[in-house]
Amino acid sequence: MNLMPTLTTERLILRPFTLDDAPEVQRLAGTREIADTTINIPHPYPEGAAEKWINTRRDEYQKNGSVAWAVTLKDSSQLMGCISLGVDGKNGRAELGYWIAREYWGQGYCTEAAKKVLTYGFRQAKLNRIFASYLSRNPASGKVMSNIGMKKEGQMRQHIKKWDKYEDIIHYGILAAEYQS
Ligand SMILES: CC(C)(COP(=O)(O)OP(=O)(O)OC[C@H]1O[C@@H](n2cnc3c(N)ncnc32)[C@H](O)[C@@H]1OP(=O)(O)O)[C@@H](O)C(=O)NCCC(=O)NCCS
Repeated sequence: MNLMPTLTTERLILRPFTLDDAPEVQRLAGTREIADTTINIPHPYPEGAAEKWINTRRDEYQKNGSVAWAVTLKDSSQLMGCISLGVDGKNGRAELGYWIAREYWGQGYCTEAAKKVLTYGFRQAKLNRIFASYLSRNPASGKVMSNIGMKKEGQMRQHIKKWDKYEDIIHYGILAAEYQS
């Protein structure tokens, strides 16, 4: 049985989640700042939801190669976020998603993690395309996407209803051929 990969960067270790991470996932992802600009993170974060989510990660990986990595600090092993590739094998593509806990924002951690995940996606997973999208009022996420070489592909107006308000989303993507060059 294939094990989910662990990736290492200068300051970070991206590793599979374990059930021991559940309380920290609930605490960090449970803040309003994280729910505010993500689509699928519930708020308030329900008791037991982190365990349930972590438990399904291995099946997802076995099923289609989708991975969610715990973003941890190399020095202290502290969990500080999540970065994921949701793979659509039939079309050779994956959606990149991420969140970093509030206290760690603005230190380049997400960019560092996302760069490595892109390398994994194209070199190991042999994907043809990696894409991502963000709410237009969340330019920090767009900056991460452009930092790692993704290109803006378009905007969908009022595509998402968040906190009862319709919001625009902006799409970014990168192809394997662009990544190699
Ligand atoms: C988006 C998020 C992951 C960024 O994490 P991070 O570790 O702070 O990201 P980085 O430090 O690698 O890069 C952020 C970049 O955005 C820039 N930035 C921050 N706020 C910005 C703003 N209001 N306008 C424009 N750029 C901004 C930073 O200066 C930095 O740019 P730089 O690389 O040129 O210095 C983090 O803010 C987060 O988890 N937000 C909540 C969840 C979320 O929105 N997830 C993404 C859903 S699409």
